Amino acid sequence: MSDSYLTFVNSPWGRRLAQAAGLPQPLPLQRHRSGQQSLVNPVIVAGAGRLMTQVQRVFSDTDTVAATPATLNAPSTVKVQGAVFDASGLVSLEQLDELYRFFYCNARRLGQHARVVVLGTAPEHCADLPQAVAQRALEGLVRSLAKELRRAITVQLLYVAPGAEDALDSSLRFFLSRRSAYVSGQVVRVHAPVDGHVTVNWDKPFAGRRALVTGASRGIGLAIAQVLARDGAHVICVDVPQAHDALQQAAGAVNGSALPLDITAPDAASLLQAHVSQYGAFDVVVHNAGITRDKTIVKMSESAWQSVLAVNLQAPLCLSNALLECEGLNPGGRIVCVSSISGIAGNLGQSNYATSKAGVIGLVQGLAPRAATQQVTVNAVAPGFIETQMTARIPLMIREAGRRMNSLSQGGQPIDVAETIGWLAHPASGGVNGQVVRVCGQSLLGA
Ligand SMILES: NC(=O)c1ccc[n+]([C@@H]2O[C@H](COP(=O)([O-])OP(=O)(O)OC[C@H]3O[C@@H](n4cnc5c(N)ncnc54)[C@H](O)[C@@H]3O)[C@@H](O)[C@H]2O)c1
Repeated sequence: MSDSYLTFVNSPWGRRLAQAAGLPQPLPLQRHRSGQQSLVNPVIVAGAGRLMTQVQRVFSDTDTVAATPATLNAPSTVKVQGAVFDASGLVSLEQLDELYRFFYCNARRLGQHARVVVLGTAPEHCADLPQAVAQRALEGLVRSLAKELRRAITVQLLYVAPGAEDALDSSLRFFLSRRSAYVSGQVVRVHAPVDGHVTVNWDKPFAGRRALVTGASRGIGLAIAQVLARDGAHVICVDVPQAHDALQQAAGAVNGSALPLDITAPDAASLLQAHVSQYGAFDVVVHNAGITRDKTIVKMSESAWQSVLAVNLQAPLCLSNALLECEGLNPGGRIVCVSSISGIAGNLGQSNYATSKAGVIGLVQGLAPRAATQQVTVNAVAPGFIETQMTARIPLMIREAGRRMNSLSQGGQPIDVAETIGWLAHPASGGVNGQVVRVCGQSLLGA
């Protein structure tokens, strides 16, 4: 669905009017295009933590601008497309001033659509209280900058566990690329990978891998199938038998296979297990299928309650268990669930949906340590307002509010969720486990 306000304020006349009236002026986001260089460039790099070698390695083929004492202490106007501050070595509150100085002097250097990443050591891994406090303080800085910098600039904090330095690459590459256009203000923890060190083809990371995507015939599911297929996967597209034609079309479009299946059917788990015995285990499983049946609780029928929980929560739980039980995911496998910011914040008229999506977070957190014993990770994305048929059904005024109530002042596209899932499912993302990453432009809901 098109966002006419976004189009309007980016027309010459609309821009002038919005400026005069003090209205928000969101920039259309720049997203990754096939064939385009993945990392933003040039990037200014500063700080003095233990992660500088990894940062330099990721940027070995592109331009980095090392922050010199001059750029750290005097405002500069030379533009850059990104900034990385390695704060992993921060041990005292006084050292937080270094971040103040860096952003005070360099914020204006950041071009439109720039990517900013702060690297830290999670408080639970700190040696003493002052260090843990200083590291925790980074969250406030990052979330504020994500609100303040505007111009479609995104800002994230990556806490990297000691010893997990080599697991940082895939996350750094994602957050310093146009793939993360609608992800901002997020805090991600990177640990030692559950599946050890892997050799990665960064151009086609899923080459030779099999991915299962539920709800793949349209919307976000179709975009996920397209992204995984673009990056080399053979995608098995699942949707309800009633969506037969759209499902065949989707599977054809990604050179994948169609598997018509109602994921809530009593025999869904055994059918998937039989599929695994016949064709082999999966490398990626994305539980995307979801439904809404919105009503306030006093007007909600029991079937509306139960059907939402069945599709959104019971099916992912039951199918994940069944697949792990039959070793239906190869070592290095990835399960990615789709939660929602409603599951974090709650939402009027969505008690069934929010219950199911909060349950998905519980599923991810509870299953991740168990799946890790099979070298499989379990994570979730929590989308905010994404332009799909699901959100097109929302009444106009609520839809418009949903679009604007985030730091990027616009809704996301299915591709934004799909790219984030591509990062979580990436063979090099074995260090990201049990996490929920919001794809919501830093929505105010549940912030
Ligand atoms: N669109 C948003 O703004 C938004 C926000 C947060 C979360 N989400 C979540 O993202 C996911 C995809 O949403 P969407 O907007 O693309 O929805 P959509 O309604 O466009 O697509 C959902 C797909 O799931 C399929 N599906 C439903 N029940 C199924 C079942 N029992 N078995 C197999 N397939 C089934 C549908 O046929 C459909 O193709 C959902 O889990 C949704 O809750 C969406």
